[in-house]
Amino acid sequence: MGHCFGCLKDDVKGFCSSCEKRLFNRSKINPQLNFNWEDISKVIDGYPAGFSISGVQTKGFIGKATGTELSPILANNKNSIYIIKPMLSRLDSPSDSPANEHLTMQMAKQLYSIRTAECCFMKFANGTPVYITRRFDYNKDEEKLNQEDFASVLKAKKDNDGRYKYIAKTYEDFGDVLSPLNKVEFIRILIFNFLTGNGDAHLKNFSLLETPDGDMQLSPSYDLMNTKIHVNDSPIALNLFRELERTSLPRGQAYSYTMNDFIELGKRFGLSDRLLKKIVKEFEGTENKIKEMINKSFLSNKAKKKYLETIEKNFVQLFSN
Ligand SMILES: Nc1ncnc2c1ncn2[C@@H]1O[C@H](COP(=O)(O)OP(=O)(O)OP(=O)(O)O)[C@@H](O)[C@H]1O
Ligand SMILES: [Mg+2]
Ligand SMILES: [Zn+2]
Repeated sequence: MGHCFGCLKDDVKGFCSSCEKRLFNRSKINPQLNFNWEDISKVIDGYPAGFSISGVQTKGFIGKATGTELSPILANNKNSIYIIKPMLSRLDSPSDSPANEHLTMQMAKQLYSIRTAECCFMKFANGTPVYITRRFDYNKDEEKLNQEDFASVLKAKKDNDGRYKYIAKTYEDFGDVLSPLNKVEFIRILIFNFLTGNGDAHLKNFSLLETPDGDMQLSPSYDLMNTKIHVNDSPIALNLFRELERTSLPRGQAYSYTMNDFIELGKRFGLSDRLLKKIVKEFEGTENKIKEMINKSFLSNKAKKKYLETIEKNFVQLFSN
């Protein structure tokens, strides 16, 4: 017996019954898909525009489960309920990327109550790992909800190809559009990203999503992962502050983030000292819970070791003065 492919609960083969219900609305789902990535890619490679939703990696789409099986949608992404992400095609330890994203999303949800997209780990017919997430941009009646990522919300500059620059803003700029509650959530997400080594939380990895009453609020989190397992990138993707604390340093000098930086950002957002103290407390002493979860994940032993090292280093760093 292993761990649940959804929630990582002990002594489960495939999915536990509550994940089957929550993720798929079924009583039994086969954790091994009956198709391979090539079955999707050979079709969608012919659709360069419009098919793949934004993001660097090619993704596929899945509709409602039939019987115990999921199957890909090959013509267009209408009526898709799930997004399917194969392993990375470049970088280090590519085959660990689905387990990395699955683990990191589960840690955010289960250990820090961060609102996240529902997700699970699965395997293709040939045994290669894959990450699946349930779309949050459709409501119960399967109507599309408006979603706008922060490159567009913040009107980030465009590069020469006319694409939004992913890192053309700072996290401080998000404060202009987030509601007070969303500001608290956002600070917690940034601390979580720092701890878990996510250097890829760029403008397109945050969105506003339409609420049932037509308001635009921060969407559930998505694309959370420890990027240090795959690439030697910066501790966090954007500068925290408008004075560009990191990129304005002389070449070769590094900026060392601590909890004080995240508190300072919270202050600039207008959050009270009492609230900020509460946030700090929520992260204190949580290192062992993270480590336990890493050990239960579907990562290879090599990637688990790397993840544990990232966590140890970042906890020391975050709580230093
Ligand atoms: N569960 C979800 N529901 C709705 N939309 C989602 C969900 N997950 C991701 N998205 C959307 O799809 C886009 C691509 O997904 P994601 O960021 O996970 O892919 P990626 O290829 O890893 O991106 P990146 O370029 O950041 O590496 C996101 O920017 C977001 O707009
Ligand atoms: Mg992304
Ligand atoms: Zn489960």
